[in-house]
Amino acid sequence: MKIGVPKEIKNNESRVAMTPAGVNELVKRGHEVLVQTEAGIGSGFSDADYQAVGASIESTIEDVYAKAEMIVKVKEPIAQEYGLVRKGQVVFTYFHFASSQPLTEAMIQSKAICIAYETVEDRNGALPLLTPMSEVAGRMAIQQGAKFLEKPVKGRGVLLGGVPGVAPGKVLVIGAGTVGIQAAKMAAGLGAHVTILDVNMDRLRYVNDVMPPHVVTEYSNEYNIRNHIKTHDLIIGGVLLKGAKAPRLITKDMLKTMRPGTVIVDVAVDQGGCVETTRPTTHEDPIFIIDDVVHYCVANMPGAVPHTSTVALTNVTLPYILRLADKGYEEALNQDPGLAKGLNIQAGKVVYEPIKEAFADQMQMN
Ligand SMILES: NC(=O)c1ccc[n+]([C@@H]2O[C@H](COP(=O)([O-])OP(=O)(O)OC[C@H]3O[C@@H](n4cnc5c(N)ncnc54)[C@H](O)[C@@H]3O)[C@@H](O)[C@H]2O)c1
Repeated sequence: MKIGVPKEIKNNESRVAMTPAGVNELVKRGHEVLVQTEAGIGSGFSDADYQAVGASIESTIEDVYAKAEMIVKVKEPIAQEYGLVRKGQVVFTYFHFASSQPLTEAMIQSKAICIAYETVEDRNGALPLLTPMSEVAGRMAIQQGAKFLEKPVKGRGVLLGGVPGVAPGKVLVIGAGTVGIQAAKMAAGLGAHVTILDVNMDRLRYVNDVMPPHVVTEYSNEYNIRNHIKTHDLIIGGVLLKGAKAPRLITKDMLKTMRPGTVIVDVAVDQGGCVETTRPTTHEDPIFIIDDVVHYCVANMPGAVPHTSTVALTNVTLPYILRLADKGYEEALNQDPGLAKGLNIQAGKVVYEPIKEAFADQMQMN
């Protein structure tokens, strides 16, 4: 199969959908990989790195789309790319269709086969192609939080690990899922005192088993949250209610009870955030301050560490790409019901129910 890897053109997106290691695997199996020039540059991979393992370098995005039978990407196609997607072409990427009617309409019109990373499921019903980005965001949350606790950027002026003779900083992690556990692990590694909250006792039991004793688990409820936000220096929001908006666990009135310079990193911002005052920010302008509380609410945190994020993402996408290439999409989907859950739009028809529901009022679905 001919597999195309275009350069991402969405604003500030430096990840790439395939590393030279992925090209190496595909070429070994007899596939042809067409990589757009400089597609990997933002993630630290040169054209020469790809050529060395057998990729052909294409000079334009048009060439990649025109020649490839399957396109692998990171972000959803943007308006400039809509017209390049061809009938019958398989496009495997993050789509998030429910949040964009123009994208959904364009992909219906293209009659392409759209398989979305974010709805592929594993045997347990988990979302394996979202996990690595949560892992990156969870670890980054502590790195960013530690930075914004510094006084020159309006933080409390607390060093998370403390020093001999000075107590360490205190980190409150709300949600003990992928983001929360990675955040707790990083904070504990720096020597901070960590409190982690969840409503799922199994998650709390797991955390309690695997983390060192300075990571303390508590049940998540309003009473505990109100108490802890008064004494913790850094608060990480990592909650998720599958398929719903994040619950508002810290309300505006609670900010006044927090100490000036407390930092909130609301990782759940992409689901609306678990703090009432959250609004999405960017890497260029990542924070804002309300009632002396620093809010960091970047919606695409992994974008700031494209080398790590690219490798983490492609580690999990490559096995699916190999199967789609080896068997063709129909057989690959037939053999793996979890991968079949990724099929969102097929040859002009929306086949994924939640997208139909999202646009039930606005669009005529066939
Ligand atoms: N900003 C970014 O760049 C970025 C990147 C990756 C993920 N995310 C977001 O981070 C959030 C968390 O993702 P995840 O992969 O860790 O999800 P997850 O499903 O692994 O974990 C979520 C956890 O929240 C817990 N939870 C639910 N309600 C709660 C409550 N009231 N109090 C405490 N805990 C509660 C759940 O029990 C679960 O353990 C999601 O919204 C995800 O989209 C953001």
